[in-house]
Amino acid sequence: MKSKARPTAGRLLYAQSGGVTAVINATAAGVIQNARAHGIKVYAARNGILGALREELIDTGKETAAAIEALRYTPGGAFGSCRYKLKSLDANRAEYERLIDVLRAHEIRWFLYNGGNDSADTALKISQLGKAMGYDIRCIGVPKTVDNDLAVTDCCPGFGSVAKYTAVSTLEASLDVASMADTSTKVFILEVMGRHAGWIAAAAGLAGEGADAAPHIILFPERVFDEAAFIAKVKATVERVGWCTVVASEGIRNAEGQFLAEAGTRDAFGHSQLGGVAPVLAALVKDKLGYKYHWALPDYLQRSARHLASKTDAEQAYAVGKAAVDYALAGMNAVMPVIVRTADAPYRWKIEAAALDKIANREKKMPPGFLTRDGFGITAAARKYLAPLIQGEAALPYGRNGLPKYVQLKNVAVAKKLPDFAH
Ligand code: F6P
Repeated sequence: MKSKARPTAGRLLYAQSGGVTAVINATAAGVIQNARAHGIKVYAARNGILGALREELIDTGKETAAAIEALRYTPGGAFGSCRYKLKSLDANRAEYERLIDVLRAHEIRWFLYNGGNDSADTALKISQLGKAMGYDIRCIGVPKTVDNDLAVTDCCPGFGSVAKYTAVSTLEASLDVASMADTSTKVFILEVMGRHAGWIAAAAGLAGEGADAAPHIILFPERVFDEAAFIAKVKATVERVGWCTVVASEGIRNAEGQFLAEAGTRDAFGHSQLGGVAPVLAALVKDKLGYKYHWALPDYLQRSARHLASKTDAEQAYAVGKAAVDYALAGMNAVMPVIVRTADAPYRWKIEAAALDKIANREKKMPPGFLTRDGFGITAAARKYLAPLIQGEAALPYGRNGLPKYVQLKNVAVAKKLPDFAH
């Protein structure tokens, strides 16, 4: 992990990758503030790795200290992000050569790539570049994903906030449904993100405990969707409680392995675009049971809801960015700062370095012990894991217009030094 002496001069390149979160900019703030404290200049790639390939670099030195501080509470990706998979070195050597050319032209010695498991793969490949192509570049992956599916780390920055948003929304919408159920809506269905892992859906379970508390049914991608069992449970819940709240992961599949809702498009990594399972389930409920329903698809709302972020998550997001700079300056390569849980109650955590090849392209799903026997709820073990992650409210300054005071960076471009590159 550690390689020879630290380069004595050069710049640090930071890039955001994949789906953004409510707190990914807090990680950027951790990176930039720590690098500034060490006298290191930070460039950011516009739109992730594409910015590096296109030589579209941003000079973060043009931003004020106040603007960088405001990143700590501004959602979205301040420098732009992308989904773009680098091929293997053999399959597309030209792309790697271009990357090295750009890094060399701008004297970049440290590359910090902030993303999920796909991005860890990209970061790992770039970290191998130095050796293969004779340029001294240290590469650190920085964790981020609302899906919470990265291996090794106890949790992923971005997840705690989407978990809090989901639990709070489930609680609030259930109070609404409960008040109307006698004469109106009997079933409310909330669809959440998470692709192949049910962590976000599981977080909805924090909204209540006990058979009659919402959510009454959680549908996980880790379990095959059983239509008959689902309908029977909705019916039994409405007859017993008077109404029923369902939380469904976008990634649930039928016995044939097909997603219940697939938009028909795929991204650069071959992932199906998901979304739309809630209306499918609602139609099923209407068709089989005749109940009035409402459904909601918070979609990007859930991963951008900084107003409802978890303080724990915001702190962890900042800490991984700060640690990534420490690792880079210590000469480490092909590692990621991960979150290690040291105690559950009171919750304690620390940051440690983990090898990127243990993280790249792996997907951490919900362990079977976190799901109840019928597969429709979470266990005490899951609560113990999840509860600390949504703790605390992350304060946000509001303006006189009633809106949060989010920052818009200047994003001043660095002058290009190379000819354009077709990719
Ligand atoms: O980054 C993870 C994620 O938020 C998933 O949960 C979701 O399915 C996906 O991104 C959506 O990706 P995109 O914004 O590229 O459509």
